[in-house]
Formats: sequence, C-alpha cells, structure tokens
Amino acid sequence: MTSIGIMTCGGDCPGLNAAIRGAVFRARERDATVIGFNYGFEGLVHDKWTALSRQNTWEILNRGGSILGCSGENPFRDNPEEADAAVATFKKHGLDSLIVIGGNSSMGTALRAEDRGIPIVGIPKTIDNDVEGTDITIGFDTAVATAAEAIDRLRTTAESHDRVMIIETMGRDFGWIAVAAGIAGGADITLTPEEPIDVAAVAQAIRVRQERGMEFTIIVIGEGATFKGEDVQYGSHLPGERYLHLSGVGAALADHLEALEPLRWKLTVSVIGHLQRGGPPSAYDRVLASRFGVRAVDAALDGHHGNMVAMRNGKITLTPLTEVAGKLKAVDRDLMKDAYTFTESIRS
Ligand code: F6P
Repeated sequence: MTSIGIMTCGGDCPGLNAAIRGAVFRARERDATVIGFNYGFEGLVHDKWTALSRQNTWEILNRGGSILGCSGENPFRDNPEEADAAVATFKKHGLDSLIVIGGNSSMGTALRAEDRGIPIVGIPKTIDNDVEGTDITIGFDTAVATAAEAIDRLRTTAESHDRVMIIETMGRDFGWIAVAAGIAGGADITLTPEEPIDVAAVAQAIRVRQERGMEFTIIVIGEGATFKGEDVQYGSHLPGERYLHLSGVGAALADHLEALEPLRWKLTVSVIGHLQRGGPPSAYDRVLASRFGVRAVDAALDGHHGNMVAMRNGKITLTPLTEVAGKLKAVDRDLMKDAYTFTESIRS
C-alpha cells in the first residue's frame, strides 16, 4: 500500500487541520495511508509521528491551529546530520512522498528535501498571503475577516471619543492583510511595508479629515512597515533567537505623530497580533484547504512531486517548487490601486 507523510511547518494558521483532513480522506479513497509528522521537519528528524485516519481527522475541519503541531525547523539548511536523520526516517517508514504544508521559507526547505530524494508536494499556507505561485494561501481569508471585525469594533470607540485609532495588523514582508482588511473595515489611512511611511503626510491626512468635520481617524498599519529615513522593522528577539518577532510599529507611529505636534492627537494603539492566526477557519478557508489537501494527495500519487498545489485564476493547479522557493509575492498592484480609492497614504 502507498504511504504518504504530511506535516505543518512554520507558524500556525486557520485551515491547517482542514488540509490534513482533506489529504487523509483522499488518500483513503485511493487506498493510500497517511502518517503525520509532529512539529514540521522536527518530527521527521526525530521520528515523532501520528498515524492519521478518517476517525481521528473527521472532527478537525473547523479547528484552528494544527493537530500535528507546527515549527519552522529546517534540517536541510546547515545541519547535515539532521538532514541525514530526516532522510532516514522517511525511508524507515517506507514512505512514497511527503506533503509539506508551509509558507515561503518552508517551501524552500521542501525543495531541499526534494533534492535529497524525498518526493515532495507542497501546500501553501500563511495568513500573510505572500507565497509566490498561488493567488491565495490557506489562512489569509480568515485573518482578513478577523482583522476587519477588529476594525469594526475599534471604530465605535474611535468615533465616540474622536480618537486617532492605530490598528497594527500582521504581515511580515508585505501588506496583504493590512490592505484587504483596510478596505473591508473602512480604514481611512492604510500603511504597509511596500512604502516607507511619511509621518508628515499621515499627519496632514488626519488634519484634512478634521477640517472636513471627521474628528476620528482609523489608521491600519502592517507590522512590517518602516518609516522614511529609518529603514528598521520594529520587534523583539526571544532570548537566544535570531528571529525578529515583529510588533511595535503602531506605537512608533503614535510616538512620531506625538513628536510632530505634542498633545494634538488623541492617539490609541491596538496590536491585534496572533488573534489573526487563531480560531476556526472561515468557510472559504475550509473549502480551499480541503481541496488543497485532496489535490496534494492526487499529485503525490500521480507522480507530480516537486510541485506545490496552487490556486490560479480560480483553478487549482500545480506550481513547480523551483518557482516558489526563495521568493515572496508582493501585494497585487490592482488591489493596491483599488484600495487607494478608499484610503490615504498607500501607493502601488
Ligand atoms: O507569517 C505569519 C506571521 O503571522 C507573520 O505575519 C508574523 O510576522 C509572524 O508570523 C509571527 O510569528 P511569531 O509568532 O513567531 O512571531
């Protein structure tokens, strides 16, 4: 019987479990078995796994996070012993292929695994929606809905107290969430990593609104945004970690505005952070993830490894991992242009 491994890599997002379930259901339909490695490639290196069946995946469709656990471990980067261990585990289980559910850096790891003889099929996931080669990733739709709801809720306070409400969304390298949630939540100003922020222009936009009688302003800012002339991303390192956890650009904007005109603005900052990554997936994400899971198994069983399942122009298709790895997908220019109709201070 054909056996397939599956894992969830990088940060969690809504829809991972739906993708696992989709893969398990399709595998069973095609007489294959699936085992899940725990914590991404870490599970493959240390041979930590869970047998998956329809029984233990039936109920996980609407559950956030991943029943397998997530990690961004990359044994193929600079650890030859771990890379050998990963290959050995794959062989030990007699697996025919491995489905890697991950974001852009995990697709890079997946390509290295493929180069080491592990036949890979990728499934793109990340709330950031910045994976190259697919129009949309698992988790983005839910994150945008969560961020838009947060804006709705913060708006009532902004309106009632004439506040300048700064709402910091996730989105490490590009402003997909900020731009989409900005449209959906009716932001007045949207600031993204694509364009360094001109604080004077932001202040002017707020003033113009006030002159027109709109005392409150909703500013949505992507966590990866930078200020003109500064070129630094705001965040912090956990002890011993090289990885920068982003957070704080919203507070920095408040500081910059305050410095420009002390005591002029009633500034309030909300960082919605990991709320965007948690909770049940939207109906759209459940459908997308389920279908990606099904098609990943088809690709694995039909010999189309070395590819990532992808949504392109409304159709599910395959994109070679070589076209995905090491790349990031910037916000669509048309989306940026359309968003500019509703918000100040973003450019395409
Ligand atoms: O890539 C998804 C994402 O949520 C980014 O938007 C964010 O910068 C990052 O992950 C946060 O990761 P962590 O929780 O490890 O800081």
